[in-house]
Amino acid sequence: MTTIASAPASVPAPGSTSGLAVSGGTPVSARFGGKPVPFMSTGLVQADIDQATAVLKSGMLRAAKKCEELEARFGAMSGSKHMMTCANGTCALQLAYEPLFAPGDEILVPAWSYIATVSMVVARGCTPVFVDALPDTLQMDMKDAAKKVTSKTRGIAATHLYGTPVDIDACGALAASKGLKVVYDCAQAHLATYKGKGMGAFGDAVTYSFYATKNLGTGEGGAISCNDDGLARKIKLLRSHGETDKYLHESVGYNYRMNDITGAIGCSKLDRLESQTTQRQKNALRYDKLLGEINARVFGAAGTGLVPAKVTPGATSAYHLYTALVDTAGITCSRDEFCKALGAEGVPTAVHYPRSLPQQPALSKWNKNDCPVADSLSARVLCLPMHHDLTDEHFALIAEAIEKVLKAYKR
Ligand SMILES: Cc1ncc(COP(=O)(O)O)c(C=O)c1O
Repeated sequence: MTTIASAPASVPAPGSTSGLAVSGGTPVSARFGGKPVPFMSTGLVQADIDQATAVLKSGMLRAAKKCEELEARFGAMSGSKHMMTCANGTCALQLAYEPLFAPGDEILVPAWSYIATVSMVVARGCTPVFVDALPDTLQMDMKDAAKKVTSKTRGIAATHLYGTPVDIDACGALAASKGLKVVYDCAQAHLATYKGKGMGAFGDAVTYSFYATKNLGTGEGGAISCNDDGLARKIKLLRSHGETDKYLHESVGYNYRMNDITGAIGCSKLDRLESQTTQRQKNALRYDKLLGEINARVFGAAGTGLVPAKVTPGATSAYHLYTALVDTAGITCSRDEFCKALGAEGVPTAVHYPRSLPQQPALSKWNKNDCPVADSLSARVLCLPMHHDLTDEHFALIAEAIEKVLKAYKR
């Protein structure tokens, strides 16, 4: 336990940046043992290593019992009938899209997401139609989606971004009224819920990533879930060269299988996923409260400096990331300057994402400049440290650093 010195090391005068660590002042972290707050916590514990080692010792390295166990347990936890592991979250999207969408289909996609949600729509030969984000939750705006439906629209690919479910009722209602298939990209939202149900209960298919930094991180890895037996069969065939018997191939497919070393790490980490998700949710409440208090202290009733993203009504977020928006009406610096100053004080941040998807060179062909909210988020969004290992001391450092930087840059 680090001893915390009794008074802040250096507090700049309001509106002056001279005491900031980024300007040569003493960082807040100096009073907290000198170490920055860890942005994430992805380490393995001995049990994870033991389970992986047991697979290595068994010599059964291919997809086998551990992948099956992960499918059964994670499927039950997510509320889905079929859970199918695969090599990564990008493959998962491909395996879900291929049986549900056909080349030439128009698919409604989020303008604000990670690229894979949309690039795999393009890889399927479909036309992505960008849908704007909501300004408060930053999730796909289903009213904008409804406006963009044409006679060629066949599906919705929606991301539960940052761990927060989209407005699933609105998405489901739109899909039902227009006869659209829905794939939810749940790469960031393991164990999130909507109206009391797990993510596996909704849509035609749901995809997951188990990339190293995800809430359930196995290094690389992914999964697809669905509740339809026929679709599950198609996905399983696609995942493994359409093989129905040894060297008998009913259809053309891929090798997108997971392996049992990855499966074992997933099973072991799954033991802790529920409690870690609860801890993330508690941490998010703590952030909401501290940001509310800091905004009130620094800006009074009228203004704000850093505003947390909201959670969709009816949803619980898995808080893969804790996201906030800088309010440039309240502060004089840019988001990047804010992040740099906060980092120098000992609070690392990340920008998810520095560009909206229509503004990615790879996808600009489909950019109709009709997603102004998503386009504007790229200059305002930032993510604060979020994981199950944040301590009281980390939160004290974070709160002090945010207040110090906001005061220094207050308009
Ligand atoms: C929303 C989203 N979709 C898809 C993916 C792709 O997953 P993977 O990296 O496992 O291929 C990611 C990973 O970052 C993601 O965040």
